[in-house]
Amino acid sequence: MDKIIFRNGWLADVERGQLVEAELMVADGQIAAIGPNLATSGARVIDLAGRVLSPGFIDLHVHLREPGFEYKETIRSGTRAAAAGGFTTIACMPNTNPVLDSPELISWVQAQARAAGAVKVLPIAAISLGQEGKLINDFAALKANGAVAFSDDGRGVNSSRLMLTALQVARDLGCPIMAHEEDAELAAGGSINFGPISEQLGDPGIPAAAEYTMLARDIYLAEMSGGHLHVCHVSTAESVRLIRAAKKRGVKVTAEVAPHHLALTEAVVPALLGQAKVNPPLRSETDRQELLAGVIDGTIDVIATDHAPHANHEKTVPLQQAAFGFSGLETAFAVTQQALVLSGLLTLGELLPALTCRPAALLGLPQGRLVVGAPADLIVLDPHARWQVTPESLLSQGKNTPWLGQELTGRVLLTMIDGQIIFEA
Ligand code: DOR
Ligand code: ZN
Repeated sequence: MDKIIFRNGWLADVERGQLVEAELMVADGQIAAIGPNLATSGARVIDLAGRVLSPGFIDLHVHLREPGFEYKETIRSGTRAAAAGGFTTIACMPNTNPVLDSPELISWVQAQARAAGAVKVLPIAAISLGQEGKLINDFAALKANGAVAFSDDGRGVNSSRLMLTALQVARDLGCPIMAHEEDAELAAGGSINFGPISEQLGDPGIPAAAEYTMLARDIYLAEMSGGHLHVCHVSTAESVRLIRAAKKRGVKVTAEVAPHHLALTEAVVPALLGQAKVNPPLRSETDRQELLAGVIDGTIDVIATDHAPHANHEKTVPLQQAAFGFSGLETAFAVTQQALVLSGLLTLGELLPALTCRPAALLGLPQGRLVVGAPADLIVLDPHARWQVTPESLLSQGKNTPWLGQELTGRVLLTMIDGQIIFEA
C-alpha cells in the first residue's frame, strides 16, 4: 500500500493534551513514523498548511436508525455523516426496529456497516428484551458477536433489580452499562426543561430531578456491584456533582456530555420549538456552566453526540408532537470548539482527548492516539474554517439541527480510516 506523509502542520498529542509541530507517515494502514523531516521518497505528501492532524474522533452514542427507521437515517448515510464530522469509529444505539437484542442482529449491523465502507461501527446491544425493561438479554452471546456495551437508551431502566443484574453481568464481561437516566414518571408528558420557559409555553416540563434521582440510584448500584456505569448525555448540574463525588470515592463511573448541552440552553426553545426538542432537554445556564466545569475537571470523560436524526415532518410540528433529538455528527466539532475553545476555557489540544483517546480507553480500543503501530484513523481539522449549516451541507438524512442556517467555525477537511482517505471536504 502507498505511503502518505502529512507535513507542515500540527499533530494532536492527545495524551498530553497538546498540539506539536511534527510530521506523520502512514504505511500499510498504520501510523508508521512520527518525527521531524521524515524521508519522503516513494511517499505521497499531504501539505497540512498549518492545520491540525488529529486521531479520528470516536463517538460512543449514535443512532443509526437501521433496521426499521430508514426514512430517518441508514447505516450508509449515518456512517458517511460520521466521516464528514471527523468520526472514524462510532458506537450505535439499539433502539431500532427490531431492537438490537439478539446476536444475529448485532452481526447484521456489523455486516451492513462493513458493506457501507465508511467508518468503524461498534454495536451497543439492548439491556432488556425489546427494550421493554423486563427480561435481561444474553449479554455473553451479544458480546461474543461484537456488542461492546449494553444500553436501553431512549428510556430509563425503571427496574432497580434489572439495573443491578445488568451491572453485575456486564462487570463479569468487562463491558459498560450505558445508562439513559430518566424517571419516566417524573418526566411524563414534558417536552422541554421544567422551569419558567416550560410554564410560559404551557408544557408540563421535564425536571432535572428526572435525571439525577435515577442517576443517584445507579451510582449506588454500580458501587454495590463493582460494575461499570457509563452515564449517557449528562444534562444537569446535580448530575455532574453526583458523578464527581462518586468518582472521588472510587465508584467505577464514567460520563459523556453532548455538544448541544455544552453550547445551548432552554433559552433557544421559544424561537426554535420542535427543532430545540431533545431528550434530555436543553437545561438552564447554571446547568450548562456545571457541564463545562465537569469537562474541564475531568468529571465528564467524553463528548458524545447523541446523533438522533429524524425526518422533517417529525420536527416541524407543534412542540408536544415533535420527536426528541438532534442530528449531531457533522456539527459536533464546531459546536464543541465554540463552547470550550473559542470561549477561552480550553485549548484545542486540551479539548481533543474527550473526542479521541478517552472514548477509546473507555472501550479498550487501540485507536484514538497518534502512536506508531496504531491504526491510521486520522482527520485533518481546520479550526478556523467558517461554514454555513444548511440541509445541503449535511450528509446525514437528518437535517434536524438547531444550528440550521447558522455559521459555525471549525471544519473537518479530510478523514482517513486504516490508511484510506474516505472523506475530503
Ligand atoms: O433526544 C433523544 N433522541 N434522546 C434519546 O434518548 C433518544 C433519541 C432518539 O432515539 O431519537
Ligand atoms: Zn438517551
